[in-house]
Amino acid sequence: MRHARAFGIAGLVVLAVGAVAFAQSTVQPLPDAPPVETRDLNDNAVAELAEATYGDAQRGAQLAGTCAACHGLDGNADADPSLYPRIAGQNERYVAHQLALFKSGQRQSPIMQPYAMPLSAQDMRDLGAHYAQQSSGAGIADDAVVESGPYAGMKFYEIGQTLFRSGNTERGIPACMACHGPAGSGNPGPAYPHVGGQQAWYSAARLYTYREGQTLEDNRHLFDVMASVARQLSDEEIEALASYMQGLHHRPDPAMLAAIEAQAAATPAPATMPENQPVPATDPSAQQAQDAEPAPQAQ
Ligand code: HEC
Ligand code: HEC
Repeated sequence: MRHARAFGIAGLVVLAVGAVAFAQSTVQPLPDAPPVETRDLNDNAVAELAEATYGDAQRGAQLAGTCAACHGLDGNADADPSLYPRIAGQNERYVAHQLALFKSGQRQSPIMQPYAMPLSAQDMRDLGAHYAQQSSGAGIADDAVVESGPYAGMKFYEIGQTLFRSGNTERGIPACMACHGPAGSGNPGPAYPHVGGQQAWYSAARLYTYREGQTLEDNRHLFDVMASVARQLSDEEIEALASYMQGLHHRPDPAMLAAIEAQAAATPAPATMPENQPVPATDPSAQQAQDAEPAPQAQ
């Protein structure tokens, strides 16, 4: 990297010398200088987030115009769910953090990087606040019966449901809902993302990445939390979890929530994981969604 910068500076010097010679014989404007400083600035995108304050959703809504073509106006990616993830209902901090990772190149996406590039740290949090206020839709979980293998006889999504709610203690897989909440709405405080209703292909892709354990992130802490969760999962389990989460609604009916919570109390929380409180029904983002769009059966 040091060499790259040295060459960049050397390149500038050559350009500058060339420019002087050029200027003596012609009045044509100089070409733009190569952006030698850009990389350093982008490298700081993640660190700069610490200086931004809680996002302003109204400002975020204005910025979100550029994102709408792919993620939809409200972040539900309804136009093409097979290509773009849902970001409606995602936590303010998670959105901002992922945008900073895209901008710095620590999370690689040739599609997202150009959109993250012009954003300041405050823009990222403002966008995050906007999406956090939108209510997430959900898809449908796959209920085909599994014909062979260790889960033969179960409906496909039930494989995911069991792991999501209870994990597998023998194999060291913690219950997903210990961190992501029974409805998958995440936890705005410690930046555990909302996963309920997410497109199955997208959740699966994320889980495969975590299982591979490779990241360019400078600070691997959050990535590694999920890497250690995903390490034990088979392909079938990843696909089933993703299918279950796709069908997981933001607003399950109250009786189901109570049943899930009772089960959560009976399941030991993963001892080695930090901040693993189950997210209760008072999760503010779930509450917000309820306020915004009341479930017909709850009225
Ligand atoms: C041209 C289409 C496109 C546009 C425009 C776009 N995105 Fe994305 N976005 C994607 C794709 C594709 C991904 C998945 C990238 C991957 O994981 O490889 C993504 C991923 C994301 C993620 C990560 C989601 C998660 O749960 O991990 C966030 C956050 C995001 N985009 C926010 C934005 C914001 C904010 C804007 C506008 C400033 C925007 N996107 C504009 C296509 C787009
Ligand atoms: C100990 C807490 C914890 C547990 C348990 C946990 N997760 Fe996570 N999960 C996280 C954190 C933290 C992140 C964000 C990681 C990052 O920044 O890349 C995350 C990210 C994710 C994402 C990516 C979301 C997105 O939009 O990019 C998915 C999908 C996911 N988890 C699914 C699961 C599943 C499925 C399980 C159960 C098998 C599970 N998680 C268990 C903490 C946890």
